[in-house]
Amino acid sequence: MDHPRKSTKTCVTMMKISAVIVLALVSLATVDAMNPRLSSNSLEFQAINCRKHSALLTEFGGVGDGVTSNTHAFRQAIEHLSTLAADGGAQLVVPPGKWLTGSFNLTSHFTLFIDKEATIFASQNESEWPLVTVLPSYGRGRDAPGGRYSSLIFGTNLTDVVITGNNGTMDGQGSYWWEKFHKGELKVTRPYMIEIMYSDQIQISDLTLINSPSWFVHPIYSRNVIIQGLTILAPVTVPNTDGIDPDSCSNIRIEDCYIVSGDDCIAIKSGWDEYGIKFGMPTENLVVRRLTCISPDSAGIALGSEMSGGIRNIRIENVTAINTESAVRIKTARGRGGYVKDIFVRRMFLTTMKYVFWMTGDYKSHADDKFDPSALPVIKNINYRDVVAENVTMSANLAGISGDLFTDICVSNVKIGLSVKPKKVQWNCTDIEGFSSDVDPPPCAPLAKAAKSGGCDFPEDKLPIENVQLKSCSVEIPAFS
Ligand SMILES: *[C@@H]1O[C@H](CO)[C@@H](O)[C@H](O)[C@H]1NC(C)=O
Ligand SMILES: *[C@@H]1O[C@H](CO)[C@@H](O)[C@H](O)[C@H]1NC(C)=O
Ligand SMILES: *[C@@H]1O[C@H](CO)[C@@H](O)[C@H](O)[C@H]1NC(C)=O
Ligand SMILES: *[C@@H]1O[C@H](CO)[C@@H](O)[C@H](O)[C@H]1NC(C)=O
Ligand SMILES: *[C@@H]1O[C@H](CO)[C@@H](O)[C@H](O)[C@H]1NC(C)=O
Ligand SMILES: *[C@@H]1O[C@H](CO)[C@@H](O)[C@H](O)[C@H]1NC(C)=O
Ligand SMILES: *[C@@H]1O[C@H](CO)[C@@H](O)[C@H](O)[C@H]1NC(C)=O
Repeated sequence: MDHPRKSTKTCVTMMKISAVIVLALVSLATVDAMNPRLSSNSLEFQAINCRKHSALLTEFGGVGDGVTSNTHAFRQAIEHLSTLAADGGAQLVVPPGKWLTGSFNLTSHFTLFIDKEATIFASQNESEWPLVTVLPSYGRGRDAPGGRYSSLIFGTNLTDVVITGNNGTMDGQGSYWWEKFHKGELKVTRPYMIEIMYSDQIQISDLTLINSPSWFVHPIYSRNVIIQGLTILAPVTVPNTDGIDPDSCSNIRIEDCYIVSGDDCIAIKSGWDEYGIKFGMPTENLVVRRLTCISPDSAGIALGSEMSGGIRNIRIENVTAINTESAVRIKTARGRGGYVKDIFVRRMFLTTMKYVFWMTGDYKSHADDKFDPSALPVIKNINYRDVVAENVTMSANLAGISGDLFTDICVSNVKIGLSVKPKKVQWNCTDIEGFSSDVDPPPCAPLAKAAKSGGCDFPEDKLPIENVQLKSCSVEIPAFS
């Protein structure tokens, strides 16, 4: 297609004219007389930026039958639309249908819009997944020392990208990969569902993401990231299906997400051992709010275990977790280096949980044996307040590192209801110190010092990313494709 723009515009114009004619006819006849093939629905959606140009996947040969591969159609479409980046940008609309595809790359000043009646299915044909280099802050692939597959939707070195819809679906068809993982057959690290690297101004919103081969949403080495309104679903028994993993990123807002997962609902990271220390890029200035999580064997929100570039200034509020192993967990180890500091958590409602508070100083997973055991993480100024929990087995399991105390841990206004068979020791604290007030059951001696009046800190100011307002954009969805 040499001039996709022209043809699209003509097409859209013709559709508009047709719509006018149809409307005129409808006013003379009954609604039943309207030909649905000529109609389209105009939808409003919210985005960081609207686009001047719009095209349908079907204009690039896309076939939504659930069987035909659309890898070429997606790649062609985005390659063509990338030429419009400097002219107001473009949006690619995935209309109603079942769209099977392998991995494809995004472009700048671009919106991928997935209609609510559309599902993108990830191909299980490995030759549709290009290999990409391992992440420099990890030094190796997470599943295997070899390379890694590109994610289903991948973007690198981009500016101003939106992946959204009116609750359209992406299905990673992960069972193929989970089985390979369990059988130890992976020579290359599994693909993620969405990975955006070295990018600025990213929005991922209003979608349902199911059954990712591994992590779902992985923004890395990026800034100004807004993630909202995602429903993320994986069977709770499958490996490494983290929901959202902000990794060496700054200025991030994650809100109104509902996540059911076999691993952490959100895992905040910044690289692994000596590779992460060398890369040295922290995750900072992040807000998570209104998260609902179900993860029986993992955390609502994990900080680490890969935190070697540092994690700081994280604000978490209004979290509901049900049948989740722990709430906001810190995971680290000797050899990690880096830091986790200035963490603020308030208003959590928790039901059925093994540990409300959990910190692990000897998390045993290393990229290789070249890590420096004297590279000790600094864990400091961690604040939890206004927590109500029910049906809890053990209130807190807080283990720092001997010779490397976790300090300024503050817990206030916490009411924990215990399960029918709770642990005898409710608070087990080693190598940590801090403060508390109004906590029931009463906390361990290292936290017995009184927190300041008013309870643990939560910053009054807003992060700049909280003030970013979305614009009202529109998209035309053909009623029938
Ligand atoms: C996507 O971009 C990466 C990095 O530039 C590249 O290695 C990969 O081959 C690209 N994939 C496709 C399908 O073009
Ligand atoms: C897998 O994809 C490759 C490359 O697109 C294609 O040549 C091959 O026919 C596909 N295999 C199957 C079983 O569909
Ligand atoms: C992307 O940006 C990074 C960091 O600035 C740079 O190292 C890398 O070469 C860039 N990659 C591409 C494909 O431009
Ligand atoms: C989106 O779809 C999912 C799955 O069907 C559903 O659970 C969720 O409530 C929907 N979200 C919205 C905002 O409609
Ligand atoms: C958190 O929940 C409280 C109580 O429902 C509400 O007043 C407050 O506005 C919420 N905060 C955010 C950031 O959603
Ligand atoms: C309480 O937690 C236990 C697991 O510790 C679970 O089996 C049980 O269903 C939970 N009860 C309620 C009422 O949620
Ligand atoms: C308390 O934690 C320490 C260090 O993790 C552990 O060795 C010990 O067994 C725990 N004690 C109880 C009663 O759980």
